[in-house]
Amino acid sequence: MQLLKWHGQLILLNFLMFMSWRPCRGLNVPSYDANYRANPTRRSAVFAQPSSYYDQYAAAGPKPLTADQRRAKLTALSNPDFYFPADPEADLAEANEPEPALERQRARPAPAAGSFSYNEKDKNGPSHWYRVDVRCGGRYQSPILLNTSSALLVNRKRPLRLDGQTNLPQTILLQNDGHSAKFTYNWRTGADRPVLRGGPLKTKYLFDQFHFHWGVNSTVGSEHVYDYQRYPMEIHLVFYNGLYESFAAAREQVDGIAVVGLFYEIYDHSVDEQLNTWTRFLRNVVEPNSQHTIEFIDTFPLYEVIGDVEWPYFSYEGSLTTPPCLETVTWIVATKPLLVTEKEMKQFRRLQSPTGLMVNNYRPVQKLNHRRVFLY
Ligand SMILES: *[C@@H]1O[C@H](CO)[C@@H](O)[C@H](O)[C@H]1NC(C)=O
Ligand SMILES: *[C@@H]1O[C@H](CO)[C@@H](O)[C@H](O)[C@H]1NC(C)=O
Repeated sequence: MQLLKWHGQLILLNFLMFMSWRPCRGLNVPSYDANYRANPTRRSAVFAQPSSYYDQYAAAGPKPLTADQRRAKLTALSNPDFYFPADPEADLAEANEPEPALERQRARPAPAAGSFSYNEKDKNGPSHWYRVDVRCGGRYQSPILLNTSSALLVNRKRPLRLDGQTNLPQTILLQNDGHSAKFTYNWRTGADRPVLRGGPLKTKYLFDQFHFHWGVNSTVGSEHVYDYQRYPMEIHLVFYNGLYESFAAAREQVDGIAVVGLFYEIYDHSVDEQLNTWTRFLRNVVEPNSQHTIEFIDTFPLYEVIGDVEWPYFSYEGSLTTPPCLETVTWIVATKPLLVTEKEMKQFRRLQSPTGLMVNNYRPVQKLNHRRVFLY
C-alpha cells in the first residue's frame, strides 16, 4: 500500500515537471556565450538583403488566423510570460545567429551625422543604414507591423498620463533638418516641461520634441503599420527619462527614451476647415536645413497638437527610426488616429530635402524578432 502511494506521488511529480518544462521548449532562447559576442560579422549579414516587407501590407485587409497562430494566441492569453509569436523561420535564424556585441558598439565613437536616404535605390537607402550606423542593423529596430490579433492584452494597466500638456513654451524652434519637420519647445523653467508617466513606463519621461513622417500621397506615410494599414502621416513625440540630465545623455541608456506615435487620417468633409493651424508655420522652413523661431505670441501647447491622451495603444521595445537607430526606445503607438486635411498635408509635401521633395520619409518595417507587443 505504502509503495503504491509512493508510486502515485512520483507520477504526479513527473507530470508536474513535464508541464512546467513543456512551454519552454518552443522558446529557443539564444545562448549568450563568449563565442557569440566575439563574432562581429552578423549584423551586416542580416541586413544585406533588402527588407521584403516594404509596403506589401498597404492594401491587404486583416487575414484570418491560422491554426498555429490561434494556438499561439491561446498560449499567450493563458501565460503571457511564455509567449513569443510563432515564427519558425525567425527561430531558426536566431539559433544560427550569434548575438551582437552590444557593449563594444556602445563604446564605438558615433559617426559624424552620416547622410542617409529614404530611397531604397540609393547607396545609403534604408537597407544600407547599417553602414551609416552599425546599430541600424540591430535586432530590435523600429518601426514594425502592429496587429491587434497578435498583441498581448494588458489587463492590469496603470493609466498613461501626460501632464503639462496645456503649458505654453517661451518659443518653439521649427527646423527642417533635411529629413523631417521638427518642433522643439523652449521652456521658461524646467517645471513647465510636459511629463509622460504611467502605462509601460517605470519613471517620468520629459518632453523633448516632436516631428513627422509622411507620404507623397495619402496612401503612404506612416512608419508603423497598424492592422496592415499605412496612414498618410505619423507624429512622433519624443520624451527622455527624467533620471538623466538631457536627451543627449538619456538616448544611450537602455531606458532612455519613450516615443509616443500617433497616426493621422485624412479629414475630407470640408475643404476649407483648418484642423491643425500650426501647419501654417511649415512654409517658413521649406528649404533644407533651415529653421524658424515661433515667437511666444504664436506658440501653441502640446494639447493643441494631439488632444487628450485617452486611447488604447500598442507598446513595445524598439529603436529610433533614423540613424543612429539606438535601441533604447519604449514605443507607445496610439490606435486612434488624429485628423488632418489634404490642404494641411500639402504644407508638409512642399518641404524640400537636400535631394528633392521631402516625401516618403518613412522607414520600412523591421523584423519583430523575439519581441512582444502589448496592447494597453
Ligand atoms: C503582424 O503580422 C505579420 C504578418 O502576419 C507578422 O509578420 C508580424 O510579425 C506581426 N506583428 C506583430 C507585432 O505580431
Ligand atoms: C501614391 O504613392 C505611392 C508610393 O509612392 C504610389 O505607389 C502610388 O501609385 C501613389 N498613388 C496615387 C493615387 O498617386
